[in-house]
Amino acid sequence: MKITVVGAGNVGATVADCIARKDMVKEVVLVDIVEGLPQGKALDMWEAAPIHGYDTRVIGTNDYADTAGSDLCIITAGLARKPGMSRDDLLVKNAAIVKSVTEQFVAQSPNAILIVVSNPLDVMTYVAYLTSGFPSRRVMGMAGVLDTARYRAFIAMELGVSVRDIQALLMGGHGDTMVPLPRYTTVAGIPLTQLLPKEKIDAIVERTKFGGGEIVKLMGTSAWYAPGAAAAEMAEAIIKDSGRVLPCAVWLNGQYGLHELFIGAPARLGRNGVEEIIEVELNDEEKALLDASAEHVRANVAKLEALQAAG
Ligand code: NAI
Ligand code: 2OP
Repeated sequence: MKITVVGAGNVGATVADCIARKDMVKEVVLVDIVEGLPQGKALDMWEAAPIHGYDTRVIGTNDYADTAGSDLCIITAGLARKPGMSRDDLLVKNAAIVKSVTEQFVAQSPNAILIVVSNPLDVMTYVAYLTSGFPSRRVMGMAGVLDTARYRAFIAMELGVSVRDIQALLMGGHGDTMVPLPRYTTVAGIPLTQLLPKEKIDAIVERTKFGGGEIVKLMGTSAWYAPGAAAAEMAEAIIKDSGRVLPCAVWLNGQYGLHELFIGAPARLGRNGVEEIIEVELNDEEKALLDASAEHVRANVAKLEALQAAG
């Protein structure tokens, strides 16, 4: 088994490191356009192997020929927003990067599964899907695992319980419109709604929605430890064919009454990628929030198409 990670920046390097530590594949190939960067980080990780005790070989490269025959690709290449750069600028620039990366990767590994991490997540997943020509079950985006992890971490802090006992579901797009679902959140099987008053739950939901921004505010750039661990967890579910149910950006075509867009929903992951999209019952309020989030994703797709058409 072989996994490629494109983008050897903060998130990409962390994904590669997390995957290597799981010792579940023979090879991880780290790709970047910057010469020396993926080679240096990969060598550093491989030199950590005797200490951590994994045999996964981490290789760094600028050449997609080295990625040939990969089973899975995690795309983290992209720009982070810099001063003077508009959101529209980022949308167009990252779409061009994701398109180019996808083209080069799929030419070498036409049967692989793609996990997109680059932002804006739901739109970039769509770009990778269109570019690859892959069936939708083989293309997905990472956001829900990260956002749910943040939500679970905040609940654990509030209740003083182990994060391991918190199960939660979160849907929608990656951003302020995401939809954490307290009705589907439990602590060791006990509904969260029985353990915390509504005001506390609402505050945790709000903190989760702006969890990415909270970190940017603290350190001037976006997170990588939790995002890297989240993408590696999805990779593990696929490689081990475990059937884990994780919230992922998946192609909805009728589920939840939504058509032809990537957005977060619970999915059973396995060797074929998205094995099943699970439809849970949503009440009117939850459905309205999901619909609003879907509208936001659609507006971003339309904005990208308009900007691309304008050249
Ligand atoms: P970074 O700036 O540390 O790394 C990005 C890397 O991509 C750089 O090393 C750059 O050289 C590389 N790159 C740029 N163009 C490339 C190309 N054409 N081919 C190969 N490599 C290329 O940024 P970071 O922090 O790693 O974030 C990466 C992306 O992930 C950003 O778009 C960020 O917004 C997104 N992100 C998404 C999250 C999610 O939940 N989906 C969470 C955190 C970050
Ligand atoms: C995050 O949620 C910025 O998408 C990134 O941390």
